[in-house]
Amino acid sequence: MLFIDTDPGVDDALAILMAHAHGSVAGLGIAAGNVGLARTTANALKLLELIDAPTPVFPGAPQPLVRPADDAAFVHGADGFGDTGYLPACRRAQSEHAALALLRLSHEHAGALTVVALAPLTNLALALSLDPTLPDRVRRLVIMGGAVTGQGNTSVAAEFNIGFDPEAAHIVCSRWGAFDLVDWELCLRHALPFERVEQWLAQGDARAAFYAAISRKMRVFSRAQRRSGLVVADALAMAVALQPDLVIEAQVRPLAIELDGALTRGATLVDWAQRSGRPPVARIVGAVDQHGFEHCVAAALGVAAP
Ligand code: BDR
Ligand code: CA
Repeated sequence: MLFIDTDPGVDDALAILMAHAHGSVAGLGIAAGNVGLARTTANALKLLELIDAPTPVFPGAPQPLVRPADDAAFVHGADGFGDTGYLPACRRAQSEHAALALLRLSHEHAGALTVVALAPLTNLALALSLDPTLPDRVRRLVIMGGAVTGQGNTSVAAEFNIGFDPEAAHIVCSRWGAFDLVDWELCLRHALPFERVEQWLAQGDARAAFYAAISRKMRVFSRAQRRSGLVVADALAMAVALQPDLVIEAQVRPLAIELDGALTRGATLVDWAQRSGRPPVARIVGAVDQHGFEHCVAAALGVAAP
């Protein structure tokens, strides 16, 4: 059973489709991040309506814990979904806060819940602050975040989900205990080849058509950046959450979040040589079975026999 904390977001959308195609989803916690909370919530509702999934949507924190941060509208569009002008969903979000919903669901599914964090960690930090025993009831936490070799995407050193709310990331990474980390550089190494994505978008069902529309600007942006393919960070994290055996290589290391650096605020500092004496809590995924990952994505877009 999954609880997904997310800020949809084009790659979040793909991850949410994968979760509903291949797993059971207890709820979506919504964070501000890629764009503001009202938009990320509306996007989640639209996507769930598209696939006719009854999954409840719980809006959470409208801003980072301490300092304001810039969104990622320049990549995801001003509405977070590629500015397609879609008709809003008819359904409504729940009134329960995402942090409270996560705590409740962790009791209802004690020992069986996998939390997949695809957004700034604000909601998780709030939940953990309210109830430090939360990790005891969660089977697994998979975080998409961090730039473990210092090649950030929101600043030189920081990856977006961590850089948007470093204090929240600090709370989660220092208090949760063990978690899996799908970092930005891993996502760059596991980009989806552009031509294959175009094939899937042409061959898939209504999910592919919707994803084709919302990802159009991002695909143009990615080609202009001369990337090796379409980087779908949250989809990779979701594949790791859904199919742990896709992980080919991982290293468990201590990890800390830089909060104060003039140039490095939001950096994920990995103690690769294990000099700090801190507990090794982050299982940093180093390689994933690319074929299996692509299969998982294509099937979630409705591609027959991918
Ligand atoms: C992460 O930041 C967001 O823009 C994406 O949705 C993903 O969660 C990648 O750095
Ligand atoms: Ca995201």
